[in-house]
Amino acid sequence: MKDLDDLAAIRTIDVHDTREVLAAFPLQCRDALAPRADRPLTGRRPRVIVIAGMGGSAAAGDLVAACAADRVDVPVVVHRSYGLPAVATPEALLIAMSYSGDTAEVLSALTTALEWRVPALAVTAGGELARLAEERRIPRVIVRGGLMPRMAVGHLLGDAEIAEALDEISALAAELGPERPTAVNEAKRLAAAIGDRLPAIYAGPETGAAAYRWKTDIEENAKTFAVSGVLPEMNHNEIEAWRRPVAGGLHLIFLRDHDEAPEIARRFAVLTGLIGGSAGGISTSWTRGKSRIARLLSLIYLGQWTSYYLALLYDVDPWSVPLLEELKRRLGAPAP
Ligand code: F6R
Repeated sequence: MKDLDDLAAIRTIDVHDTREVLAAFPLQCRDALAPRADRPLTGRRPRVIVIAGMGGSAAAGDLVAACAADRVDVPVVVHRSYGLPAVATPEALLIAMSYSGDTAEVLSALTTALEWRVPALAVTAGGELARLAEERRIPRVIVRGGLMPRMAVGHLLGDAEIAEALDEISALAAELGPERPTAVNEAKRLAAAIGDRLPAIYAGPETGAAAYRWKTDIEENAKTFAVSGVLPEMNHNEIEAWRRPVAGGLHLIFLRDHDEAPEIARRFAVLTGLIGGSAGGISTSWTRGKSRIARLLSLIYLGQWTSYYLALLYDVDPWSVPLLEELKRRLGAPAP
């Protein structure tokens, strides 16, 4: 597909109406405002919170961890594997997060928590996680089902500050949808600017979770490789990779934060001078809103739409993830 303003062509490629799911993202976040655990969390204040999740569900964990960093005096660890890390003692709290409820790694984390007597909360749309939690009388937050996990991040959040973020992403929903022509649509323009190049997305420390989310959304929706990194850390390693000729095939995307520290702004400026000339192109996008969650969600939402339009440019259905599903199917089948 060449013309991102051709609505008829969009409908032909986007056969699962992903655009409608993305447009409803603000509503999804509104849904998350009411806390809905089906039984109260009892026990003492945890010393550490471990959020177990994979892929799109872990992304919600990254957001919670990023927002907690400057407000909550309890460490939040996002765990992306089987079992649990050693910090998960009976004085911790496990939040087992799986949209489908059938992700093996998350089920393993909950089973380990039951063995190790770690208090737990399950957040899911159903599946085995909902069943096991009910059987073991673990509080559950049941979210609405029927979506692709990576497009359900709004449901998996439950923070009161989302209210502030809602205004920002509702405004963005009106600005980024297919009906808005490329000339005034930042996501379409970004996708067109990336074109056939490999996107390299960099953000500052407070919005680093958004850069990683862009990478994974581009991989799952547009089915192409993407690189992501966080300043200042990438200044200490990844920066050297930009000396390779392959850098000319990359498109730099800087995700900047209106609230970023002067040190970070200076790093972006110096970095642009050093590697900007090696990249095939550069785009910069900015956060919206005041709270950390608004800033993160506004960037993430822009990334979702950008990856959507990139999928259309590549003529691929943004919704389906056949390899990911086939892998889960084969792992679930009895070993030969
Ligand atoms: C698929 C997607 C994946 C899943 C991951 C874990 O749309 O986003 O990254 O999130 O495979 O599955 P859930 O979220 O169901 O635990």
